[in-house]
Formats: sequence, C-alpha cells, structure tokens
Amino acid sequence: MAIVITVAQQKGGTGKTTLAANLGAALLPSRKVALLDIDPQHTLARWHELRPKTASKLTFSEVSGWRVSRELDRLKAHHDFVVIDSPPQVDSDARLAIRGADLVLIPVQPSPPDAWAAEGTLQLVAAEKRKAAMVLNRMPSSGKLRETVTALLQRGGKPLLTATIGNRTGFATAFARGLAVSEAAPRSIAANELGALLSELLEMLG
Ligand SMILES: Nc1ncnc2c1ncn2[C@@H]1O[C@H](COP(=O)(O)OP(=O)(O)OP(=O)(O)O)[C@@H](O)[C@H]1O
Ligand SMILES: [Mg+2]
Repeated sequence: MAIVITVAQQKGGTGKTTLAANLGAALLPSRKVALLDIDPQHTLARWHELRPKTASKLTFSEVSGWRVSRELDRLKAHHDFVVIDSPPQVDSDARLAIRGADLVLIPVQPSPPDAWAAEGTLQLVAAEKRKAAMVLNRMPSSGKLRETVTALLQRGGKPLLTATIGNRTGFATAFARGLAVSEAAPRSIAANELGALLSELLEMLG
C-alpha cells in the first residue's frame, strides 16, 4: 500500500503544483510513484506532458468528483507513493484528497496573508484527523521577513518544517522541461533544498 502525500493550501499560487511535481520526481527512481492531479487547472498534467521520454517513469492520473477516492485506492495498490496536487480552494475534492492522505503538505509563502490562509487548511486537516506539515516556499535566505513569518507560523505549536525552499528560478526552468530540480540541476541549491524537504517528510512518515 502506498504512502499518500497531498499538497494542499486554499490560497492560490503558493507552490502546490511545483512541490507536487518536484517531490514526485525526487522520489524516483528507487520507488514506484504516482501523481494524481485533482485540480481543474491541469497544471501538473501539463508538466507531465512535457516530461522527456528518457526521464524516470512515474504514473500520472487526473480525476475529479466522485472518482477521486476510487482512483486513489487504485493507485495506492500498485505504488510506493502517491502525491496529490489539489486546487486552491476547499471543495469536496480537496477534502477527499486530505482525507486520503498520510501527510498533508501545506506550502506557505512568507507573508502574513499566506500564513493566515494556511490556518484554514490546517483546520481542515485537523477535522479529518490527518497529519499536517507546513513548508515555507520562496523564502528569503535572511532578513526580518524570515523571522517574522517563521514566528507567526510557529505560534500555537503549528507543524512547521525546518526545511525551507528559496525563491529559485530553477524551479520554473525545470518545470518547463517536465523535470524536477533534482533531475534538471542536481547540484543546484534548489535541488539541495528539495532533498532536505523530502528527507524531513520521509522522517515524519517513519
Ligand atoms: N520556490 C520557488 N521559487 C521560484 N518560483 C516558484 C517557487 N515555487 C513556485 N514558484 C512559482 O510560483 C508560481 C506558482 O506556483 P504553483 O503553480 O506551483 O502554485 P500553486 O499553489 O500550484 O498555484 P494554484 O493555487 O494556482 O494551483 C509559478 O510560476 C511557479 O513557477
Ligand atoms: Mg497548482
């Protein structure tokens, strides 16, 4: 049975699809990975269409509505990991994806509106009794904003990961080629950050 990681955050543009694609590909080639896109924007589907034939293979699937749970069960039976990319809203599909997750990864950009939006997603994860992990994405390497937002997110013992992802053009460059940063530029800072994020998630998942 696969471990399911759902990337969710009701606010738009926080990096859900970027992280879903990068984590999915970073788990390869030693694990069988499926990506499940339940966002009608089809962004992850377009990334997968760009993926070179020579790249490590992953299963890609795209569903919505009542098919989400059934498709998730089908993928779980034949993979080690299923990574779900969800839409920027709390609809019934997003709830199903959260309900089916072993871990819900919530990308948060370093600004108060993003931090506040994450609280709504955290409440939903708690209501479904799932495990949550917030990750700061597009994080400046130093400065006041870093400290302020980290403090804001940690308030009340919220589950903020130690790993952070910087604002790196390498993510868009790799995405345009259907690749993860770990595949397109394995020695880059972005690839290092992605590796640290993956390690921390795997540790949380035991
Ligand atoms: N760490 C990063 N560094 C630089 N650019 C990034 C990073 N993460 C995401 N981006 C860029 O931010 C934009 C939004 O990212 P993405 O599409 O992954 O967000 P999303 O949460 O899936 O959006 P939506 O809510 O619309 O589904 C994209 O242009 C992406 O390339
Ligand atoms: Mg998206």
